[in-house]
Amino acid sequence: MRMRRKKNIDARLAACAHLLADKPEEPISTSQVDFDFEGDICLEIGCGKGGFAVRCAAENPTMCFYAMERVPNVMVNALERAEREKDTRPDNLRFIIGRAEDLAEWFAPGSLSVLYLNFSDPWPKARNAKRRLTARKFLLTYFKLLSEDGTLYFKTDNVDLFNFTLDELKALDRAPSYVTYDLHHSPFAAGNIMTEYESNFVNRGIAICALAVSARQIHF
Ligand SMILES: C[S@@+](CC[C@H](N)C(=O)[O-])C[C@H]1O[C@@H](n2cnc3c(N)ncnc32)[C@H](O)[C@@H]1O
Repeated sequence: MRMRRKKNIDARLAACAHLLADKPEEPISTSQVDFDFEGDICLEIGCGKGGFAVRCAAENPTMCFYAMERVPNVMVNALERAEREKDTRPDNLRFIIGRAEDLAEWFAPGSLSVLYLNFSDPWPKARNAKRRLTARKFLLTYFKLLSEDGTLYFKTDNVDLFNFTLDELKALDRAPSYVTYDLHHSPFAAGNIMTEYESNFVNRGIAICALAVSARQIHF
């Protein structure tokens, strides 16, 4: 179903245009394309209302963050939040209105240090499995764009999507460096930054699954 365009969306996006990255002619290989300092590049795909990206950028001032979201109606909330909270961080956050499917047009191989997938849409029907952002076609792109020392982090409330992701990683012979089916009662909870979806699930007592996997090949 197509979402109705919010009132004044173009004006609201224009007011935050300085936070939006322009599609580069060549894929981005250094943070200096959009930032005035050199830092490791982190990317969140499907940032929604942007709470995670804004806090992550504030807590990691030497890193350069991009947050990608395909729906402008949703992205406008993230942009406005980032603008409201701009005093909490250096100028180290940019937003991309775009799709994970086009990532390779945005980022060069080896350019990313960290990639976050937070509560990606589960696409529960088997016939839509290839659309899941942890389907192997996507995972292969992420591993190509991450540097050798880079890491992919994934969180979800959806156990089926989580198990699917573990199976896809296994099919690619990539072993996660950690796996938990209950992030908030695990040693990995320390330093965890909650997303909007995550707060909602946690408030309802739903456990969060999480994993990290290195871009450097670790075999099962
Ligand atoms: C379930 S929401 C989670 C939002 C946020 N990460 C959170 O945890 O609160 C998933 C978000 O991913 C975005 N999304 C889904 N598929 C995408 C794609 N292929 N490329 C970019 N964004 C996508 C959706 O528009 C939606 O805002």
